[in-house]
Amino acid sequence: MSKKSAKAKPAKSAEGALVPATTPINIGISAKDRAAIAQGLNALLADTFTLYLTTHNFHWNVTGPMFNTLHTMFMEQYTELWNAVDPIAERIRALGFPASGSFADYTKLSSLPDAPTEPPKALEMIRILVAGHEAVARTARDLFPLVDQASDEPTADLLTQRLDVHEKAAWMLRSLLEG
Ligand SMILES: [Fe+2]
Repeated sequence: MSKKSAKAKPAKSAEGALVPATTPINIGISAKDRAAIAQGLNALLADTFTLYLTTHNFHWNVTGPMFNTLHTMFMEQYTELWNAVDPIAERIRALGFPASGSFADYTKLSSLPDAPTEPPKALEMIRILVAGHEAVARTARDLFPLVDQASDEPTADLLTQRLDVHEKAAWMLRSLLEG
């Protein structure tokens, strides 16, 4: 047992035996790196949740001649974003830190603005979502060098997948603005 874990304050288990207050994590990534990566992943989680909510909002409120296309496209995108928050949150837990899950946290951590109060026109919705996907891609990319240096392959894999999704979604949305 290392000096550090021996210092953990003992607590009593249900059976009355002494157990460490925290179970040490020893996966080959330093506590400092795990903390920094978890912090970056919480920012990614906040960005992803904010973009999920904005996309779902636009699915509900879109109007105009592109209604059918956008209503369906936004549904596919918010479903993907909704499914993405769980693996991000669970990676944070696997690294030993709490996953953010409140509007207060997301407001603080997200690099994306909240959805507009008044539903914008369809083209403005598309512009907002392009900017949103690009912002999430930047958050994921900013974290990559640290993850790479720490040999955190599962997080690198997760970030790679998220970058692919956001860059593809941004391209598809951007294409709707051209012509
Ligand atoms: Fe719907």
